[in-house]
Amino acid sequence: MATYQEVIFYVNGKRIADKNVNPEWTLLYYLRNKLRLCGTKLGCAEGGCGACTVMVSRYDHKAGRLVHLSANACLTPVCAVHGQAVTTVEGIGNTKTGLHAVQQRIAAAHGSQCGFCTPGIVMSMYALLRACDVEGGGRAPTMKDMEVAFQGNLCRCTGYRPIIEGFRTLTEEWERCGSRLPAVNGTSTTNGCCKGLANGCSKGDPNGWCCKANGDGGCCSSSGEQLAPGDVEILFDTSKFKPYDSSQEPIFPPELKLSPILDHQYLAIKGPRVTWYRPTTLDQLLLLKHNHPQAKIIVGNTEVGVEVKFKNCVYPVLIHPTRVKELLQIEQTDAGIKFGSSVTLNEIDSKLKAEINSLPEHKTRVFAAVVEMLHWFAGKQIRNVAAVGGNIMTGSPISDLNPVFIAANCMLELVSKEGGYRTVTMNGSFFTSYRKNIVKPDEVLLSITIPFSHEFMYFKAYKQARRRDDDIAIVNAAFNVEIQRGASPIVQKATLAYGGMAPTTLEAKQTAQVLKGKKWDMKLLEEVCNAIVKELPLSPDAPGGMIAYRRSLTLSFFYKFFVEVYGKVNCNGPQQESLPERLLSASQGLSTVHPQSSQYFQVVPPNQPKMDAVGRTIPHMSAFKQATGEAVYCDDIPHYENELYLSLVLTTRAHAKIIKVDAAPALAVEGVHAFISASDIDPKRNSFGPIIHDEEIFVTSTAYSTGQVIGAIVAIDQATAQQAAKMVKVEYEDITPVIVTIEDAVAKESFHKGTHRLMKDGDVDAALKESAHVFKGEVHMGGQEHFYLETHSTIAIPREEGNELEVISSTQHPSEAQKLISEATGMPANHIVCRVKRIGGGFGGKESRGALLALPVAIAALKLNRPVRCMLDRDEDMIASGGRHPFYGKYSIGFSKEGKLLACDIEFYNNAGHSLDLSASVLERAIFHFQNAYKIPNIRCKAACCKTNLPSNTAFRGFGGPQGMFFAENMISDISALLNVDPAQVRESNLYEEGDRTHYNQVLEHCTLKRCWSECMQRSDYEKRRLDVNSFNKQHRWRKRGLSIIPTMFGIAFTAKFLNQSGALVMVYTDGSVLLTHGGIEMGQGLHTKMIQVASRVLGIPETKIYISETSTDKVPNTSATAASSGSDLNGMAVMNACQTIMERLNPFIAANPKGKWEEWVSAAYFERVSLSATGFYRTSDIGYDWETNSGNPFNYFTFGVACSEVEIDCLTGDHQVLRTDIVMDLGESLNPAIDIGQVEGAFIQGYGLYTLEELTYSPNGILYSRGPGAYKLPGFADIPVQFNVSLLRGAPNPRAVYSSKAVGEPPLFLASSVFFAIKDAISSARSEVGLSGPFRLDSPATSARIRMACQDDFTKKITVGKDVTPWNIVP
Ligand SMILES: Cc1cc2nc3c(=O)[nH]c(=O)nc-3n(C[C@H](O)[C@H](O)[C@H](O)COP(=O)(O)OP(=O)(O)OC[C@H]3O[C@@H](n4cnc5c(N)ncnc54)[C@H](O)[C@@H]3O)c2cc1C
Ligand code: FES
Ligand code: FES
Repeated sequence: MATYQEVIFYVNGKRIADKNVNPEWTLLYYLRNKLRLCGTKLGCAEGGCGACTVMVSRYDHKAGRLVHLSANACLTPVCAVHGQAVTTVEGIGNTKTGLHAVQQRIAAAHGSQCGFCTPGIVMSMYALLRACDVEGGGRAPTMKDMEVAFQGNLCRCTGYRPIIEGFRTLTEEWERCGSRLPAVNGTSTTNGCCKGLANGCSKGDPNGWCCKANGDGGCCSSSGEQLAPGDVEILFDTSKFKPYDSSQEPIFPPELKLSPILDHQYLAIKGPRVTWYRPTTLDQLLLLKHNHPQAKIIVGNTEVGVEVKFKNCVYPVLIHPTRVKELLQIEQTDAGIKFGSSVTLNEIDSKLKAEINSLPEHKTRVFAAVVEMLHWFAGKQIRNVAAVGGNIMTGSPISDLNPVFIAANCMLELVSKEGGYRTVTMNGSFFTSYRKNIVKPDEVLLSITIPFSHEFMYFKAYKQARRRDDDIAIVNAAFNVEIQRGASPIVQKATLAYGGMAPTTLEAKQTAQVLKGKKWDMKLLEEVCNAIVKELPLSPDAPGGMIAYRRSLTLSFFYKFFVEVYGKVNCNGPQQESLPERLLSASQGLSTVHPQSSQYFQVVPPNQPKMDAVGRTIPHMSAFKQATGEAVYCDDIPHYENELYLSLVLTTRAHAKIIKVDAAPALAVEGVHAFISASDIDPKRNSFGPIIHDEEIFVTSTAYSTGQVIGAIVAIDQATAQQAAKMVKVEYEDITPVIVTIEDAVAKESFHKGTHRLMKDGDVDAALKESAHVFKGEVHMGGQEHFYLETHSTIAIPREEGNELEVISSTQHPSEAQKLISEATGMPANHIVCRVKRIGGGFGGKESRGALLALPVAIAALKLNRPVRCMLDRDEDMIASGGRHPFYGKYSIGFSKEGKLLACDIEFYNNAGHSLDLSASVLERAIFHFQNAYKIPNIRCKAACCKTNLPSNTAFRGFGGPQGMFFAENMISDISALLNVDPAQVRESNLYEEGDRTHYNQVLEHCTLKRCWSECMQRSDYEKRRLDVNSFNKQHRWRKRGLSIIPTMFGIAFTAKFLNQSGALVMVYTDGSVLLTHGGIEMGQGLHTKMIQVASRVLGIPETKIYISETSTDKVPNTSATAASSGSDLNGMAVMNACQTIMERLNPFIAANPKGKWEEWVSAAYFERVSLSATGFYRTSDIGYDWETNSGNPFNYFTFGVACSEVEIDCLTGDHQVLRTDIVMDLGESLNPAIDIGQVEGAFIQGYGLYTLEELTYSPNGILYSRGPGAYKLPGFADIPVQFNVSLLRGAPNPRAVYSSKAVGEPPLFLASSVFFAIKDAISSARSEVGLSGPFRLDSPATSARIRMACQDDFTKKITVGKDVTPWNIVP
């Protein structure tokens, strides 16, 4: 038998034939490192973010058709694409030869901010277009197709809305709705309108959906808004979109189409540690498995790939059986549909959907349950490649399919060389222990048969996860009952299977026995629930935690099934009543309507010169390059000659003595150059920190947290460095206590020195005494992981015989990187230059924590005198770099009978982690903001930073503001519950007004809070919707709606006065082009674009003549971090100042030649020897606060906003959906409404994650569990409000910032708490069903577990959880 060692495939039409492929290489590694195609990004390496999405195409010779699939290049082994064609983002278009329609639309629709997710999202959309074209004979994708295509993509910046809007223009619905109509509404998101179309608008659409509906009640045609003259600008102009023409797509490589020869090759590819076999017949496969029983069979590699990357597993033999026809069969038998074990999940989905459409409903009930489960199973990229066999054989206790297969008693066919064929039933005995089953080592799973159902069989499956899309289950279940129909419905047979309740998928046999022979009525429900409680216990320390919640889900799922079946069987016999209408809500699902949106903003006046870019909706200046993959991020920079790679050795204990560090085994690995540690620097210099140096660069004797740097291995390449770093042996001796939570730190009085703060205003004790009511409350708010899509990365390049160092870093603060490297190495700052072109998101996480990596990389580069690079893996980044501070606080609030706030005595703490970092400043901002937007005349606020054994928490968008303001809103929520009034009423009556004085004695000027409030009340139609919500809640027992309107008031300025300064450098060249540099970092927020707009106005030239290349410490020195929302305010003024200097110099030439052109004036100045470069500088005036006297202005001004959100919750599972959000934001006169609206939406969705989804969990001994996108859930595409309307307040110029604009980055984030309080509102309604009223504590985030357990009912009462046991996890 001939075997082949060469891997042959195509990339972007180019043939690759490689005889030296290492089977351990992923396709992503190959693309980025071997082919230097860096458009495809690494975001997580575990299939969870979609940044690495590419299209993989093959020719199905049997069916005679092309197959195009999106796939995660980070999990696809490069050997697996033998005989296939790979298309990357570079292969579909670029800015030089022309963009693809997909690339153009995402960029032009403002769907790319930092751009790191963009290539992956582009490729998901591209693969969808191509697949629809092939499968649907030239059809456009539907909105539903799009929803599914993006389940596996994450974006941390945009809030998804603009991406959906841009791509909506490629859908079937858009085509139907009349994309060719001209723009009619300057303030609506979408140009064009259904008005005037033959098939009308939403109301006429058969699906009740209008592709261009806006927030003012349906179709944009019905908007009652009177537009001002000149309101003709739009967020993006679809008339400029090039049409998508599938005939222009590159052809599939003829070699692969004409001959199946590559498909028939038996591959045997040997690498240093792993051999890859691709057999082509069953006999070959069985022989291989016979010879290598421990070999791993891999199809999608979505399980094994993760094990290899994150669990350090090495599997010496890999068998890829995707050419073995028996494993690919799909066949109808008498019993059901038989699927070969290598059939992918998407192929199963398609086949079952086809069967559901053609067979009678009663025959396809199991199929429907599988299809439903598959919708919630991973993302499309995973389902495209992952096979059913992999899911069964992995035997994960939270597998989504195994409960269904067990409940349906699916048949499995197994085969081995020696034992031949055997058939087994999938039941409770199939799995023997955690991830183990009855299949023998030499056996192969051949097929699974999913049975037909029948008329008397009822089958349903359920899943609850943290996030609805692309998330693993917390608990899942499948139920199968056969019920005899007649006068009374009697259960004949029952199979119940649960996942997430034990180390294996469980069959609840005793409960099934209870069901047998019983009538399907309320009595049965009670007995079954009692049986489930008995049969499915969980110990209080069971892995996975959430014990009470998980147990409650076992009952909730059965109840949902009970109600569903009750409605279906003939229950209305004489002795059996039908269930009350309101109970049917138990089995109803959440809305599946496609998202709609609107954006309103002030357009530029008609007389504004065309070339003046200020106020225009110009796309982000790098958006097009980001969409094509041409935009370069730190790790995309080509490798330098002699470059080495660095891998950190991190502490793995939260509090321990380091007894010994032994790097010898690592140093013995070929290719390892050095182990860098504390011994490589002067001990006096081995410390760092942004304010005080309280952290060691390299830990010497004691670990105070996991994720601290002990040292670093520097090696020839990434794989060698990472493998060797794992071999460094560290001996620890644990130290107690390990402090994880704030509560524990307070009890043990563990605080960072000098962080206690006290602020007093008025006489709080007297005011509390005089208040009609005083309420004491407490609340905890969890932290948040930044999850910028690009992890921390640095390259350090020694120059000029080691006397200079160039550092390219993904930092928000290059000056600090420069300073800290100088301090650590003793090299003066003027020998070090730190450069940043762009970063893939920062959100505060790259303000001070970048030093963690930049310092070791710089030290290693100087020691070895060679360029050194490192980009952290996602898990390293999450373990080491800290995040948003959790807060906990207690308060006494005094108020009048009418709910007027009179006094507040509050005490709160943040969880700072092991070092101080910026925690004291974060705490201070929380103190400034704890009253949010409300006047509280008497306050006392005590606060301190807790010292814990966690990674050091740091800046994160809002910088303590969102945590502080959360306290105020909890107080309002408590007061409203006590007074039994609508919280909106209490909020409105306490809002600050013009001239009011805050508790830190700043007088409010230009306060537009009440304007924002009333506009939001009106736009959201609050009063009417409050009544609607109340009436919905009366009609539904198990689904409740909630509504909440929340204001925000965010102070703009660094609270440390000296940071409020900035610089700029403008250079005008003799051709008239302008190179602009300023102190700010472009991290997606559009700062460079806005700075160009400012320069455009001052210089009087179009933005196309101005370019920003990078931020660099050798252009603008001593800069502040790009943070505190002040990037545009500070740098904009400095840019303006520099440009004004240039204009002063040019004015004489303009006066001499008034009709001349810019280039002529520049040229004339040059020949007159006038300098054409100028620096600019700015410092904010009249700010500075004194803590001693509680006086002075900490803030330059305030950004105001109000949001109203409506949610629906499922009281039985805690699931929720945001039905609608309306935001009104005062951003002064926006420099760029498109960018600002993007910031509002992006901040809102990030805040939505903070308050509802994102939960950091640690082990009791301080080890982070929630690492990577699999365990830590950010909002996805499906989580955005079904209706999302953003409006920028008009006619509110801000006199205190550049061109009357306002800062936007952080302020809108808190508005997402409107979702939290809407959820709380809905929970209140659920609680009132069981007679509970008054205030109750709901900590943030409002996860499904918290929502469910707060609802309380007869089911939750059945659950008791043992106490006094150390739980599996802790939320710090
Ligand atoms: C981002 C992400 C999200 C996910 N989401 C979900 C989810 O929502 N729900 C869920 O249940 N799972 C989920 N998974 C897990 C995983 O995708 C599935 O288990 C998938 O079905 C595995 O298929 P595969 O082909 O990729 O398996 P592989 O990784 O290729 O193989 C998995 C295992 O199965 C064995 N195996 C495969 N075929 C055979 C065979 N024919 N005979 C014997 N042994 C065999 C292999 O040896 C290996 O041990 C997720 C995974 C990722 C990475
Ligand atoms: S990098 Fe591949 S999915 Fe995240
Ligand atoms: S633009 Fe999507 S992650 Fe930044």
